[in-house]
Amino acid sequence: MALRGSTGAPPHVPDLAADVGDILIAASDIRAKVSELGARLTEDYAGRQLTLVSVLKGALPFMADLMRAISIPVQIDLMEVSSYGGTSTETSGLVRILKDLSSPIDGRDVVIVEDIIDTGLTLNYLLRYLRGKNPATLRVCALLDKPARRLVEIPIDYRGFTIPDQFVVGYGLDYGEFYRNLPFIGVLRPEVYGRS
Ligand code: IMP
Repeated sequence: MALRGSTGAPPHVPDLAADVGDILIAASDIRAKVSELGARLTEDYAGRQLTLVSVLKGALPFMADLMRAISIPVQIDLMEVSSYGGTSTETSGLVRILKDLSSPIDGRDVVIVEDIIDTGLTLNYLLRYLRGKNPATLRVCALLDKPARRLVEIPIDYRGFTIPDQFVVGYGLDYGEFYRNLPFIGVLRPEVYGRS
């Protein structure tokens, strides 16, 4: 018997090659940008210690590459949040912390490492939450900025790429938890949204 989702429809089996339309950012361009951001962070935080706080799961590849592009002492911490109340391609701004910081950040120079800022609601919540933990400084490094749908203004101190209002996957970004392992960032074909 075939496995079925809660709607009764057969679950969508992702086809990594067919489901992604245009490649928006090639792997080589991501590599170059990550090196550039790492060099800027190295320079800006010279003589200090940096704490990178990344947000699982989407920022995982970015965090892994970015930390290796930084040549000053760095500590890392990981949080996991989920937004709820939205749809499969939209966030709601209601954020639940699934995994909190492992160590205190008071008095630390902290940079939040994010995969993408869309409405800004998730990061707005996180900024307020982390400010409450009294870091010495708190900045934002985001690989992708999708400004078209921004609902709250977010100070992005380190920005990788500004992208158009399209749903993208790859390099950590998912749809239905798949496509994260693509080495590039591509546009998910809109037909795929309706299937799972
Ligand atoms: P925001 O709260 O609307 O800024 O959304 C932030 C989160 O939504 C990101 O960390 C992603 O997990 C997810 N997200 C927003 N846009 C995209 C996209 O185009 N592809 C995949 N995930 C996205």
